[in-house]
Amino acid sequence: MSGGSGGAPRPGAGGGEEGPAQPRPAGAAGRSRSLVIAVDGPAAAGKGTLARRLAEALGLPHLDTGLLYRAVGRRVLDRGADPRDAVLAEAEARSLTEDDLRRPDLRGPEADMAASAVAAIPAVRAALLDWQRSFARDRGAVMDGRDIGTVVFPDATVKLYVDAAPEERARRRLLELRARGVAADPGQVLSEVLARDAQDRNRATAPLRPAADAVVLDTTSLDADAAFARALAIVRERLAGAA
Ligand code: DC
Repeated sequence: MSGGSGGAPRPGAGGGEEGPAQPRPAGAAGRSRSLVIAVDGPAAAGKGTLARRLAEALGLPHLDTGLLYRAVGRRVLDRGADPRDAVLAEAEARSLTEDDLRRPDLRGPEADMAASAVAAIPAVRAALLDWQRSFARDRGAVMDGRDIGTVVFPDATVKLYVDAAPEERARRRLLELRARGVAADPGQVLSEVLARDAQDRNRATAPLRPAADAVVLDTTSLDADAAFARALAIVRERLAGAA
């Protein structure tokens, strides 16, 4: 696994080497001419699964950018510090390692809120920006997050904004937690989803919002297969239009 710019770590890439969508040579920072599919949206909208499946279908690497913020949040919590501590969080973001991204404790309510808190710190976002861009530079990528289409890759080839009603997202989150053996209260999960939405949408730097040229995909009444089929059709249509 090669490192990103500035000695930053680089997580494992999903997807195969071959596929219908071969990336082209890279351009300047944030201006990749490689094939980049941005999958943004709020917590528990299903964008992670969708992005992974798109990457597989298109033969592209996949990066779940939320993992970066989760790992930074965890490292701050490890120090017994407040994830809103900007100086410490930036230092942790700059010294993130690949191993941090494989920690088993990156999911769960505490990690969720810590990730959302460090993600509101501009210096943390700046520290992770080149890293994310370098991930896609050579081979392109499917990247899921909150600001891929608005900030990280404003010129992404295709931008999807995956959304769903908060109650449905809370229901999915609850199922996911229970599947991992975590006891959770439905009301509590819904308030956490809403709190995270508010924090991600109202922050000053790179707030969660659809890019002007994003295709919004509402998955409230779609299961994972239907959402994937719809997303793949949108991507293929856009690629055909761009050819
Ligand atoms: O996608 P996720 O739930 O794993 O993301 C965890 C937190 O990280 C989320 O609350 C907001 C933040 N995040 C972000 O600000 N920008 C990204 N590109 C990805 C995640």
